[in-house]
Order: sequence, then structure tokens, then C-alpha cells
Amino acid sequence: MEPTTLPDRTAWEGRPVLVTGGASLIGSHLTAALVDLGADVTVVDDLSSGSRENIKHLLKAGRISFYEADLRDARETRRAMEGVDTLFHLAAIHGGRGYVDLHQTACAENLYLDGLVFRTARDTKVRQVVFASSGCVYPLYRQRDPSSDLLLTEDLVGPPYEADGMYGNAKLMGELTLRSLHEEHGMDTASCRYFTVYGPRGIENHAVIAMMARALVRQDPFVIWGDGTQVRNWTHVSDIVNGTIMAAERIHDGTAVNLGTQERIQVVEAARLICDLAGHDPTFVFRTDMPVGPVNRIASFERASHLLGWRPQVSFAEGVRDTFAWYRNHRDPQRLAGVLDRLLTERGVHSVAPVDAAPAARPRSEELEAVMPTAERSPAAAALR
Ligand SMILES: NC(=O)c1ccc[n+]([C@@H]2O[C@H](COP(=O)([O-])OP(=O)(O)OC[C@H]3O[C@@H](n4cnc5c(N)ncnc54)[C@H](O)[C@@H]3O)[C@@H](O)[C@H]2O)c1
Repeated sequence: MEPTTLPDRTAWEGRPVLVTGGASLIGSHLTAALVDLGADVTVVDDLSSGSRENIKHLLKAGRISFYEADLRDARETRRAMEGVDTLFHLAAIHGGRGYVDLHQTACAENLYLDGLVFRTARDTKVRQVVFASSGCVYPLYRQRDPSSDLLLTEDLVGPPYEADGMYGNAKLMGELTLRSLHEEHGMDTASCRYFTVYGPRGIENHAVIAMMARALVRQDPFVIWGDGTQVRNWTHVSDIVNGTIMAAERIHDGTAVNLGTQERIQVVEAARLICDLAGHDPTFVFRTDMPVGPVNRIASFERASHLLGWRPQVSFAEGVRDTFAWYRNHRDPQRLAGVLDRLLTERGVHSVAPVDAAPAARPRSEELEAVMPTAERSPAAAALR
């Protein structure tokens, strides 16, 4: 693997940075990396799918400021942005395939959320905005041939647009808004198109973690959504974080850049790999009636390599090993089995109680605690967190 360029520590020391959605999988790792670089980081998150648990170590050590707020509230958004130099905007109403396909109206809320965040950033004179965009901005008609070797290059996003559902359309509008803000208002902006991210702190409504959950509860027959031949380029969160910070350092004109590997992995191959790690040898059943997404989605990282010096450093085989080690340490299989169906398609669900008996307003951090065995708080688990 070719080495990647790493962030410039001197660029971040003492810089006031806001990470929206910083309690999420990607947000929490990005926050930790920015803290390590010496930035002065504030996280704002409504904890609707993120978790306080993900940033607990940073909070305990007093290394970040955190406040819980819904960024669709204009007063909260304004309060969060006062004095900010660089904004990483990751907050989004988002989940895996089961969520984004089945909740179009909720995903459309992102149009409002992003619009308000970007307008407030302009009004409060935030110098720089880096946006968590997605491979879902690419036209679906480019991704229908499972035998194609096409690598999605950034220029393929253009008329006739055919983004992936309301979630993809909202990300696309976010990108275009940021480009306009640069052209008309001189704002320093960048969009990073993330491709199917996984890693420690991932959740079950995303495919890789869903497969780990099925393997951990020893599901047999083991359910795979679709016919298993869908091709993805799962990308490890550490590579995503590095690329996002590099984009902040090197892109200033609203350009969008892919952050995704060029490894072509079929869903069924990923399932086999994960079952092998779990020592589980099930029969696979293929549910073609479930949400599947595009059959062939792989990024080109040529632009990222050219503009950022970025290259992914973690192969899928290596990343899955590391993530499964974390996962098995952080979930109690018996408790997981009781809520697995909900975990696969909903967001912000961590309760182990049966749906009917679930308390209405249980704090989310408490819900998450409930699926975690006490053993997970071992030093080894803490090191992976
Ligand atoms: N995980 C992936 O494969 C992937 C791929 C492409 C893009 N992305 C984008 O990356 C970002 C992070 O995604 P993720 O998968 O790490 O986790 P995620 O989807 O859970 O992250 C979203 C975060 O935003 C918070 N949030 C949602 N609505 C909010 C609101 N109104 N106010 C304040 N906070 C709010 C959530 O609690 C959560 O912490 C998202 O923007 C997502 O769209 C993720």
C-alpha cells in the first residue's frame, strides 16, 4: 500500500473547530484526531443516532466541549458557531441502507438542516466549512451493471442527476450550496464524499456491523439482503478521518473529493470473511425483497490522491479484523439477539428491551449501556474505544 500524506500539526494547534454530529462513528474519531492535533474542539450533537459513549473518554479528560442540541433550531445553531474558525459538518439524519431507503421524509429533513447550518456559518463568519457528503450523490444509472469495472470519478456527478434517494439528493444540494458559497461569498469550503464507512463504534444499521451482529448471535440461516453480489468499497474510519482533515488543509474552493477505497468486495464475500472470524459456519439465505442499494458502487480516489496526497491505508481484511475484535468486546450476544431486527433498520435504537416494553424516554447513553456486557470495560476494550 502506498503511504498517505498526514495532517500538518502546526495548522491545527489552538484552532477553534466545531464538529457537528461529533458523537457519531465518524464524528467521534474525527474529533479525537483533531484533539490530538491540538485543535480546540467543540462537538454539537442531538444524540439522535450518535452516542455520548463515543466521546466519553474525551469528555472525561476535559479535552472537548460538548453540548447537546438540535441544529434544526436556529438559535442553537447560531450559538454553536460563534467564534468558530473551521466547521466540520457531519450532523445528518442518516442510517444504513435499511434506514435511508425506508425513511425518505426523514432524510429530506437534511435539506433544512444543512441549509440552516451553512447559512448560519456564513452569517457568523465561520472561515471554513468541510462537509460530510456521500457516495450517494452519484447517479444511480451509473451503478446498475454488476459486471462493470467503473470507478466513480467526481466529474460523474452532473446532469442528468440521479442521486440515491432523498438522502443522496440532500447531500448533493449541500455540496452545490457550498460551491455557491465559495463562488459568491468567498467562503472556504470542501465536500468529502464518504463511501460505506465502518470501524470501531459502528452501528448495526450499516452492512458490515449488521453482518457482525448476525455472526455474533450465530444466526443460521444467516440473512443477506439482496442476492449477495452487490459490490462495495467499504472504507475504514481511520482513512476517512485522515482524508477529511487533509481536505480541510488543502481544498478551499468547494471542490468535492471521494474518500473511498478501490477494493471491490461483494456482500457475500464480506459475510464469509466475518463468519470465518466469528468461527460461524451458517447457511446463507438471500432476501431480495429487502433494501439493497446500487449493485455496483466503487470510488476512484485519484482526485484525493492528487489534491490531498491521500491513499487508504487499511485493507478490508485488516479493517474487518480490527472492527470485529472491537465489536465482540462491546456487545452481549444474548441481549443483541432480542433487538437485532430493530437495530438493522432504525436509527438511535440501542435498547435491549422488547419493543412493547421499551421505556418511552430512556436516556440514550443508558440504552447503549444496556447492550454492553460489563466485560467490555476491560482495558483491552478501552484501548480500542
Ligand atoms: N457511515 C457511512 O458509511 C457514511 C457514508 C457517507 C456519508 N456519511 C456521513 O457522515 C456523517 C457521519 O455519519 P456516521 O455514519 O458516522 O454516523 P451518523 O449518521 O449517526 O451521524 C450523524 C450524527 O449527527 C447527529 N445528528 C443528527 N441530526 C442532528 C441534528 N438535527 N442536530 C444535531 N445533531 C444531529 C446524530 O446524533 C449523529 O451523531 C453523516 O453526515 C453521514 O451522512 C456516512
